[in-house]
Amino acid sequence: MQEKNITTIRKEFAEEVYGGLTDYPKHLSSKYFYDERGDMLFQKIMSMPEYYLTNAEFDILSSHKEIIVDQFEKGAEHINLIELGAGDGKKTKILLEHMARRKISFKYTPIDISQNVLDSLENSIQTELPEVIVAPRQGTYFEVLKHLSTLNGSRKVILFLGSNIGNLLHPDAVDFLSRLQEVMTDEDLLFVGFDQKKDPQQILDAYNDAKGITEAFNKNILLRINRELGGNFNPDHFKHWEVYDPETGTAKSYLVSKKQQSVDIESLGLEVSFKPWETIHTEISQKYDDEVVYWLASEAGLSVSAVFSNQDKGYKDYLFKKKQNESDLE
Ligand code: AVI
Repeated sequence: MQEKNITTIRKEFAEEVYGGLTDYPKHLSSKYFYDERGDMLFQKIMSMPEYYLTNAEFDILSSHKEIIVDQFEKGAEHINLIELGAGDGKKTKILLEHMARRKISFKYTPIDISQNVLDSLENSIQTELPEVIVAPRQGTYFEVLKHLSTLNGSRKVILFLGSNIGNLLHPDAVDFLSRLQEVMTDEDLLFVGFDQKKDPQQILDAYNDAKGITEAFNKNILLRINRELGGNFNPDHFKHWEVYDPETGTAKSYLVSKKQQSVDIESLGLEVSFKPWETIHTEISQKYDDEVVYWLASEAGLSVSAVFSNQDKGYKDYLFKKKQNESDLE
């Protein structure tokens, strides 16, 4: 199963790189930032002072855990707490610890494409919170979610933290939320982090740190193409560039070619040429306000049942449930 996944991922990567680098303007998908080195760089990003998102969500979960867990628990006999892309679980452990302390009947199901991520998460939970039942599932989110049916009295609570949703354009976010909505019953809940619009300078600093960690993270995709597809990119010949549009709330990352150059990608049989200052668009990190989040939810067939903010309201976690049919309300 894992072998097949790796081959499929490699093939999709090759196809998307080919498509993106032969398109105009050029683009690559940020979902390919995350190989072993990319995971390590993202861990470093999350502990940088400029990258405020992690602490903001940590503060929300720490200061509102009582009431968040009340909402998760209300009327359910058992909870299946399912996390999409759990990473190191640092933030989730706040909830796990609190649920265990309250002796709530639950199990924790982190889903990730990487078995390594799941193994180390499971080990760390078994050491730090041995009373928590962990049932990791390797695979893509929807593949696994389809298999997680709800048993009587058991409620699915799906977590999607870290403003990961911000890496999707609005139509893709609606599509993603709709697919989650389809696997939810009326009893299930969805808890999602959305970074909010704020001082544009704070956002630019978060994605363009002084130590160049975000730059290395962005350029990691070039190294991955070199290693996995036989490319010969020189990352020093590209500049990391971040822009933020306060009107739309969209932060965008680019790699900008510093000179005229051409790059060979052997396994694609492709020679890519770059004009001086030509761009590769690599990532969007969308910032939101309540209006946009309520609109996304409604488009996806969800309704907002609670909102939790950090102190400066720069980051919010929203709790969604399935929207009731008009006819059910009559
Ligand atoms: C994973 N994702 C929500 C991060 C973000 O904020 O867009 C990825 C990231 N890119 C640059 N820094 C962090």
